[in-house]
Amino acid sequence: MTSIDQAEARMNVSPKFWDKHAEGYAKRPVGDEAAYQKKLEITRDYFRPDMEVLEFGCGTGSTAIAHAPYVKHILATDISAKMLEIAQGKAEEGNVRNVTFRQVAIDDFSPENETFDAVMGHSILHLVEDKETVIAKVHKMLKPGGVFISSTVCLGDSLKWSWFRFVAPLGRIVGLMPLVRVLSTQALVDSLTSAGFEIDHQWKPEKSIAVFIVAKKAG
Ligand SMILES: C[S@@+](CC[C@H](N)C(=O)[O-])C[C@H]1O[C@@H](n2cnc3c(N)ncnc32)[C@H](O)[C@@H]1O
Repeated sequence: MTSIDQAEARMNVSPKFWDKHAEGYAKRPVGDEAAYQKKLEITRDYFRPDMEVLEFGCGTGSTAIAHAPYVKHILATDISAKMLEIAQGKAEEGNVRNVTFRQVAIDDFSPENETFDAVMGHSILHLVEDKETVIAKVHKMLKPGGVFISSTVCLGDSLKWSWFRFVAPLGRIVGLMPLVRVLSTQALVDSLTSAGFEIDHQWKPEKSIAVFIVAKKAG
């Protein structure tokens, strides 16, 4: 049993689901290109050429590869080998040399304290078993003054998605969906501030179900 298999058995994480959907995920265009570009731009304002960055749940690597020219190094992690294979291919094709891809669940990732200047986690906090544990871990691994930049689906913000709470467990049982938590922006902000972060930037693009947050660890 590999450590990823063990993680799956222990925490209900779903590498097989993501492996199966990796090709489709890579081909699917970004939902709102203008909003994605704005998020890249805002993120870049926080980056400096000497920075060590972590991205967890990096998927097929597009965001890490886009930011690579602006920082020293990005460690991009994901639970899915297939996602990482596609990401690695894209990095090689683009001759990007300062991104290292590693297969590990965020739940099992334990770097030294204060290792990173910035951590990114996009479209992932609503997919983890326990977001409080993950946020506390990110806070620990950031250097003082470091930033946690996340984009998180918050279905709990809209009554329109109330039905999802009931359908999600069924979708998961039949293998059509991974674990998806119904979060609200307020609950997410509360979790970040309880962990010791200050919210430096918060933006929800019009009609989006995801909130983009830059949270800062005190310097
Ligand atoms: C919705 S995709 C988002 C990918 C990318 N961050 C993006 O914004 O396009 C979620 C990604 O998180 C990965 N993932 C799911 N659970 C994870 C976990 N516990 N630890 C690390 N990665 C995980 C999946 O394999 C998948 O690639």
